[in-house]
Amino acid sequence: MIRLDGVGQVFEGREGRVVALEEIDLHVKPNEFVTLIGRSGCGKSTLLRLIAGLLPPTSGAVSVAGEPVTRPRRDVSFMFQRPALLPWRSVLSNVMLPVEIDGGDGDRGRAAYRDRAHDLLDLVGLKGFERRLPYELSGGMQQRVSLCRSLIRDPQVMLMDEPFSALDALTRTELSEELQRIKMELATTIVFVTHSIEEAVVLADRVVVLTPRPGRLREVVDIDIPRPRSLGQNAHLTEVAQISGLLHGLLAEKSVDDLRPVDEVRP
Ligand SMILES: Nc1ncnc2c1ncn2[C@@H]1O[C@H](COP(=O)(O)OP(=O)(O)O)[C@@H](O)[C@H]1O
Ligand SMILES: [Mg+2]
Repeated sequence: MIRLDGVGQVFEGREGRVVALEEIDLHVKPNEFVTLIGRSGCGKSTLLRLIAGLLPPTSGAVSVAGEPVTRPRRDVSFMFQRPALLPWRSVLSNVMLPVEIDGGDGDRGRAAYRDRAHDLLDLVGLKGFERRLPYELSGGMQQRVSLCRSLIRDPQVMLMDEPFSALDALTRTELSEELQRIKMELATTIVFVTHSIEEAVVLADRVVVLTPRPGRLREVVDIDIPRPRSLGQNAHLTEVAQISGLLHGLLAEKSVDDLRPVDEVRP
C-alpha cells in the first residue's frame, strides 16, 4: 500500500544542511498497522509528510496504492497531536470539513456523508454532541472529533503524528483501544508516530525504529501479541513489557548530545 524506496530528505536551513532522513526502504502492506518511533528530531514527521505528498523527497521514491506520490491524495488522511478543530463550527460540521473543502467521492452524496459523520461520532462515543462547539468538549473528546474527521472519506491510508500525546493517560488508553476497534471495522492502513514505546507496541503489527539524525531504519519489529490489546489492564503485559524493553535498548544505543535524553522519550 505504501512504498518508500531509498528515500532521503535533506533540508537546506539557515543553520546549514540538515539530513533528516537517509536511505529509507519501507513497504507497508494493505491494512497493516505500523508504528514509528525514534528520538525527537529523527525525521518521523518528515517521513509522514513525504507519504502524505506534502513534501517531495530529495532522493528516492514514495508511492501509495501503486502510484507515485506527487501531491496530497484524497484517500490519505493526516491526524496531528492537536485536534485543530475550527472553533466556530459544530462538532458535526468539523467532521464534514474535508468533504466541504474538497468534495466527496462522486458516488456518495452530501446526505450520505452526513449519515456517515453521525455513524462515526457514534462509534467514538460522541452521539448527542453533534451540535456542540469544540470549546464545550474535553481534550479527549476533541481528539475523537478529529479522528472522525480523518475517517470521513474512508481513507485507504491514515497518517497519525503523535495523535494521543497531549492526552491524559486514561484517555490515551481508551483512544488507543478505540482506534484498534475502528481499524478492525474499517480496514485501513495506518502509519502512526508516537513517543510512547508501549503505545507503539500495543497498537502495531510492526514497529519501525529510526536512528537519531539522520533518521535511518534501525530495526523493524513484528508484534505478534493477540488483539485486542490495551495499555491498561490486559493479559499480555509481560509480552508488551519485554518488547518495550528491547525497543528502549535500541533507542538508547546512540547518544547525541543535542537530543533529549532517552528518559524523556519514555511514556
Ligand atoms: N522545513 C524544514 N526545514 C528545515 N529543517 C527541517 C524542516 N522540517 C524538519 N526539519 C529538520 O529535520 C529534522 C527532522 O524533523 P522532524 O521530522 O520534525 O523530526 P521528528 O518528527 O522525528 O521529531 C529535524 O532536525 C528538523 O529540525
Ligand atoms: Mg514530529
